[in-house]
Amino acid sequence: MACMKAVIIGVLLSMATAERRFPDGFKFGTATSSYQIEGAWNVSDKGESIWDRFVHTRPEAVSDRSTGDVACDSYNRWREDVQLLEDLHVDYYRFSISWPRLLPTGFANRVSEDGARYYGDLIDALLEKGIEPVITLYHWDLPQTLQDLGGWTNPLITEWFTDYARVIFDLYGDRVKTWLTINEPVVVCDVGYTGYIAPGLESEGRGSYLCTKHILLAHAKAYRLYEAEYKPLYQGQVSLTNQMMWFVPETEEDAELTELVKIYTIDRYCHPMFSAAGGWPPALERLIAQQSAEEGEPRSRLPPFTQDEIDLVRGSYDFLALNHYTTRTVRRAGEGEVGTFLVDGFRELGVMPGNIPEWLTSTPHQPEVHPGGIRALLGYVKQQYGDVPIFIMENGLTDLGTAIDDQPRATYFRNYLDQVLLAIEEDGVNVRRYTVWSLLDNFEWVHGYQLHFGLHRVNFSSPQRTRTARRSARYYAAVARTKDLDAQYHFENIADEL
Ligand SMILES: *[C@@H]1O[C@H](CO)[C@@H](O)[C@H](O)[C@H]1NC(C)=O
Ligand SMILES: *[C@@H]1O[C@H](CO)[C@@H](O)[C@H](O)[C@H]1NC(C)=O
Repeated sequence: MACMKAVIIGVLLSMATAERRFPDGFKFGTATSSYQIEGAWNVSDKGESIWDRFVHTRPEAVSDRSTGDVACDSYNRWREDVQLLEDLHVDYYRFSISWPRLLPTGFANRVSEDGARYYGDLIDALLEKGIEPVITLYHWDLPQTLQDLGGWTNPLITEWFTDYARVIFDLYGDRVKTWLTINEPVVVCDVGYTGYIAPGLESEGRGSYLCTKHILLAHAKAYRLYEAEYKPLYQGQVSLTNQMMWFVPETEEDAELTELVKIYTIDRYCHPMFSAAGGWPPALERLIAQQSAEEGEPRSRLPPFTQDEIDLVRGSYDFLALNHYTTRTVRRAGEGEVGTFLVDGFRELGVMPGNIPEWLTSTPHQPEVHPGGIRALLGYVKQQYGDVPIFIMENGLTDLGTAIDDQPRATYFRNYLDQVLLAIEEDGVNVRRYTVWSLLDNFEWVHGYQLHFGLHRVNFSSPQRTRTARRSARYYAAVARTKDLDAQYHFENIADEL
């Protein structure tokens, strides 16, 4: 029997090894963000962020009334995180810098010595282990001082952000070669201005569009700064990363509306940067102008770009980065029906999101698992924007449990990676990196500690915030080490079943 088992495993391994291997040079990583893991919200001279303010003043907004005050305590336990990363065999670690930890006033007049040392030590420890640091400059924890001046709706934020970027490039540019300026603008702007997440303001279709424009300009100015002053010295690469769901029409009649949803959620951010013409997607510009006119607005609620701004933003990238989790169906909302899920623009478009029963799992908040969605999305991005190198900067599955044996998550990674590989091999999409969200269970924003995305379980009741590798971590480590998406997966499943 044991012999038979070895033969079966051997056959499966050799079949898999021959066929399902990612190309040489393809890189695997995992990701976190500062507010979700660091804790230490008030140590040393750190300033207050909009998330500190939000969770402290509106505890009811978080499902378990928790905060990121301590989170995974990675401010103190980052050496353990680096060890976990080494055990995962990942090529890189994507983490973010807390703006108010580095610049306590929000402005570049004063740089925190402790803040600068914290990130510098982390970068050095990663490099020592051969793990590339990939840094996000902004992952949602805006200094409250800047929010008090209007945050992302104030055009001056493009300068404040560029000043912040300069401090970071000066401190770490010699050691960090891959940069993401801003994480998921569509969430920062559309969700941030529904009142649902920090800063908790309601200004849909107005504040959200000002935010959209200024985020693109802030990104572009930081990109141009790097291009002019740092790239010649360090040869690094810069982009921003967008949240991209995939959408399919509920019926054939919904096809046109579905295209509009893609334009609204994907191309609103990509067209200005990646298209040949630059600027807003024309269909979106027309739609909002028309709706604004019908509502008696003196001008479009979508603020226009000047030609100089179009030129500044167009081409401000070295790669195209996207975060992808799930797929939704699209149909026109009926009378009085309001569709709100993640992107509140569904209201603007008169769209009702839905799903297909076969995709549904028992996972709350991310119930749809549809691996084919990522391949279709990658094909769409290639079709729209050509052969730009694509970095998948987040992908993962959430659950409510704390199990170490998280077979559904391992299966999710296996099946999504399979589709990514098909996109590369069959569709010729230029995908270069794949990133798991997340290294650790962490403070999952308004879901507090109830939802888990971690390759590692974190015990939030223990003062040590004990980290334990899950089955999905073992699977992902095997993938990162061998670039073969099936070997370990088959091994573990067969071994369990026999
Ligand atoms: C920091 O915040 C904690 C609550 O998270 C509080 O107990 C502590 O007193 C604060 N420390 C300082 C120096 O304000
Ligand atoms: C989490 O930590 C607490 C406190 O140290 C401990 O009592 C508990 O058993 C731990 N839970 C797990 C699942 O290890």
